Amino acid sequence: MRKITIAIDGFSSTGKSTVAKRLAKYLGYVYVDTGAMYRAVTLYAMQHGFIQADCFDQEGLISALEEVKISFKFNEDLGYAEVYLNGKNVEKAIRTLEVSQFVSQVATVSEVRKQLVKQQQSLGQDKGVVMDGRDIGTVVFPDAELKLFMTASAEKRAQRRYDELLERGDDVAYEAVLKNVQTRDRIDSTREDSPLMKADDAIEVDNSNMSLDEQFEYILRLYKDKINN
Ligand code: DC
Repeated sequence: MRKITIAIDGFSSTGKSTVAKRLAKYLGYVYVDTGAMYRAVTLYAMQHGFIQADCFDQEGLISALEEVKISFKFNEDLGYAEVYLNGKNVEKAIRTLEVSQFVSQVATVSEVRKQLVKQQQSLGQDKGVVMDGRDIGTVVFPDAELKLFMTASAEKRAQRRYDELLERGDDVAYEAVLKNVQTRDRIDSTREDSPLMKADDAIEVDNSNMSLDEQFEYILRLYKDKINN
């Protein structure tokens, strides 16, 4: 069967990755979590002193970018690829609130974006890919056959992320998570380079009141429509 490119963009914690992983597994497609790549660069910056307290040494990070090697390795048990930073699995380390607090700032840096977009384009060059992020349908794969733009209220999204963090055993307050979601929305949508926006040909999916099964079935129908037309 013909393989296509599926681009899923949207605000943070809209459940993009959950539905994207399920879709990729079902279709036998490769799943690429581009947010994980920006998070891995942020973790690198924190580990190497380019981010300290509230200070972000942008020039320092840019000069060290060559040293940042991000890769994905498929985990058979989980059924999706996990992200590695310089050969080390960082899947858990990149999901902390600390990383979330800086990642949007790191994602404003054009040199970082250029490097990651190039890698993302190469990961998806053979199609048969579900990629989620903020600029997939607008910048990374503007010709993607199926583009989705996921939305949900900030409160709903914060609750989801809060539940996830609690489940991992992190000690966080709901208000701090909500504030982080709102701050990231603002930075992601207003940055100069590749701001988060809905591509003209993207289909908006507001999943505030949709279960995962409902989202999956709906997106699968959109995929089948594309394939059959
Ligand atoms: O999807 P996420 O919450 O893990 O993404 C983390 C951050 O990375 C998000 O706040 C914005 C940035 N990002 C981006 O700028 N472009 C992408 N394609 C993916 C993520």
